[in-house]
Amino acid sequence: MDSGARFGQSWEADPGEPTWTGTETAVKEQRVEEWDDDTLVLGIETSCDETSAAVVRGGRDILSNVIASQTELHGEYGGVVPEIAARAHVEALTPAIRESLLQADATFWDLDAVAVTLGPGLIGSLLVGVAEAKSIAAVLDIPFVGVNHLEAHIYSNFLGNHTVKWPAVVLLISGGHTMLVHARGHGDYEFLGGTLDDAAGEAFDKVARFLGLDYPGGPEIDRLSLLGNPDAVRFPRSMVGEAGFDVSYSGLKTSVINHVRKTEAAGEEVNVADIAASFQQAVVDIEVAKTMSAVDQTMVDAVFLCGGVAANSGLRTGLEKACLDRSITLHCPAIELCTDNAAMVAACGTVLLRRGIYTSLEAAPDPNLPLL
Ligand code: KG4
Ligand code: ZN
Repeated sequence: MDSGARFGQSWEADPGEPTWTGTETAVKEQRVEEWDDDTLVLGIETSCDETSAAVVRGGRDILSNVIASQTELHGEYGGVVPEIAARAHVEALTPAIRESLLQADATFWDLDAVAVTLGPGLIGSLLVGVAEAKSIAAVLDIPFVGVNHLEAHIYSNFLGNHTVKWPAVVLLISGGHTMLVHARGHGDYEFLGGTLDDAAGEAFDKVARFLGLDYPGGPEIDRLSLLGNPDAVRFPRSMVGEAGFDVSYSGLKTSVINHVRKTEAAGEEVNVADIAASFQQAVVDIEVAKTMSAVDQTMVDAVFLCGGVAANSGLRTGLEKACLDRSITLHCPAIELCTDNAAMVAACGTVLLRRGIYTSLEAAPDPNLPLL
């Protein structure tokens, strides 16, 4: 499916878009080099609970990446409250954009394009970013590029990294999504499998909440895991022995809850660090097993890890070891680029721009925008 259809918007193809010759592999490598230029793009991300604005040069060099987190606002509710998130974006976005330009030592007039997350995400939150991005693009008369948040996560791997090459197996693992994708080139993705119920980050957050930890729970479990024994409780690794690339987290979550309740009912002490470490180990084992079978099937020699849960120390170490064993390359973004940020939106927008893909100012955000 081409990007226009994928995004459900009308796109104008750049008449100057280059045509490629040679083998398929050569084409893909050539394309990666193609966007290594001086294009200056302002990225805007407001899909969930981070207000972020970034200035990125050539799709790779981060000149600024300002992130205003709303964690404290949502913490007392144990999860993101959509109405509060949208209002907070309204307050934080303009100052974040100003700050991103200041840090980049750039002005609005230096910008070549504005890229913004068009979806998926919370509709009220998306609307704030999209409206502001459209206004800036219209006033400056520069291209407006709507970006898929999931595709932007993939591009976090290209930031500051000039050695990344397609094809790869992408493990996109966040609070809202968990999927394995065979990425052959820019916009050339094949869905291999994903969660049948909770996203991995959602499971981290729910288990953490049950254990009485702060929101967001993923980083809390990660920290606590370092103090616990990952072999203390053998939680189920459901679907690991099965064919295909789907995973399921609802059984694992329930199993943690049942274990804690049983321990308490027996009058025994609940060792929260051991439970956190054992839960995290189960997630790592599931994801490493499925990612490596995807590598075996697709015969790629690189894995791109991305999404908020890509910040998890156990997952990074587990995948690093597995990739080393197979002599393939693991690319992981810097920790601060795993969770939602506008630099990845600008990076993705730059590639779309180079491919001649622009978005109409009529385009509306789509809370359910699929990757493919
Ligand atoms: O990508 P992201 O910022 O937002 C979505 O697009 O969903 O991901 C947020 C998710 C949350 O569920 C959070 O708990 C999880 O990423 N997360 C982590 C870690 N850091 C963030 N999960 C496990 N370990 C971490 N270190
Ligand atoms: Zn995200």
